[in-house]
Amino acid sequence: MFDYRLKIKNASQIVVITSNKKPYLIGKDMSNIEIVENSSMIVDNQGKIIEINKNEIIEEKYSNSTFERVIDCTGKSIIPGFVDGHTHPVFSGDRVHEFAMKLAGATYLDVHKAGGGIQFTVQHTRQSTEKELLDLLLARLDRMLKHGTTTIEAKSGYGLETETEMKMLKVLHQANKTHPIDIVSTYLGAHSIPKGLTAQEATDDIINNQLPELKRLKELNEISPSNIDVFLEKGIYEQEHSKQILNEGKKLGLNINFHGDELTYQRSGEIGEELQALAISHLEKVSEEGMIAMSKTPTFAVLLPTTAYILRLEVPPARRMIELNVPVALGSDFNPNAHCMSMPFVMNLACVLMKMNMSEALVAATLNSAASLGLSKSHGSLEVGKYADMLIINNQKWEHIIYELIDPPIQYVIKNGNILIE
Ligand code: NIG
Ligand code: FE
Repeated sequence: MFDYRLKIKNASQIVVITSNKKPYLIGKDMSNIEIVENSSMIVDNQGKIIEINKNEIIEEKYSNSTFERVIDCTGKSIIPGFVDGHTHPVFSGDRVHEFAMKLAGATYLDVHKAGGGIQFTVQHTRQSTEKELLDLLLARLDRMLKHGTTTIEAKSGYGLETETEMKMLKVLHQANKTHPIDIVSTYLGAHSIPKGLTAQEATDDIINNQLPELKRLKELNEISPSNIDVFLEKGIYEQEHSKQILNEGKKLGLNINFHGDELTYQRSGEIGEELQALAISHLEKVSEEGMIAMSKTPTFAVLLPTTAYILRLEVPPARRMIELNVPVALGSDFNPNAHCMSMPFVMNLACVLMKMNMSEALVAATLNSAASLGLSKSHGSLEVGKYADMLIINNQKWEHIIYELIDPPIQYVIKNGNILIE
């Protein structure tokens, strides 16, 4: 047995984000992240960080200690592993043909009305076994890990009836036990109105059938959802139905974390304050009042620049949100519409399209996204007592993770102090 699991030495920069145990950063603080230069780190045998300090201090203090692994980070920098705040990674079926339709000018709702989109994925996912979906998910998680993601939020939502929704949550529960990526799961039975039902009938099914079954399986420890989500959108789940569903989920102890104001303005921020939502995603069409409401609760804005990019929509007003002290997080929105598993690419889009600076993008993809999932005590920054989830960048300046398109220089991916990719 070694005294410690890991020693990192001689790093040019360790981007700790904050060392004050702040649960998340807002406003100008997002631009002032903490970086320790010429530094080293010690990780204990439980995978937690016990010290980050200047090289000389660590060398002297731990000169008689033994380490399972030592990594010399001369010329390299270290950042926290990414926390992807919004994904739909459990699905089967291929929608590459819809990408062609969209390139030819079809909108998201055109594809939806033609029976494609979510409905297409629902048909395929209903037909797949739990084992098939788990294998697909595990392969996707491996790809996410290669891009530096160490924790994700992940939704159900391609079943739209009890059996398949619960199958998806079971798959997420199993993957969380077997794959090194930490998964926070979200029940999204209200992702789309199932064929043949009215919005009221679909809402009743969720409240009377799906949620009671979710409660039962959660008590049996077969599923572990933390959040409830709806697609609050004109012609899908509109405001009254969304509120009913979210409130029922809240009664079961789920956090409210929903899709809102994506294609049309639906008072999402205002509803978020009313229901004390933990997070709202998308927000391309959010109002000024909605953003002010979100800053009060506070409700996290989980921004998804891949969606606007793929659908050629306007981007959410990230700059205004940061000015108003709304806590801003980022997610890939990985799903068959936005087929992106790369948080470095998401951060690049956040910078170029949404005008965030690189420091803001990194905070949004680590500490703030962890906080949007209720994980900021243990994840999202490199602080003493937190899990050593981190990436070693093969460049002395950490910003290369955002600057270098397509193949950014991630040399090691480390989760709980274990080296998973090198
Ligand atoms: O977050 N907006 C709704 N849901 C997903 C898309 C899901 C799909 O098209 O399969 C989203 O973008
Ligand atoms: Fe989504």
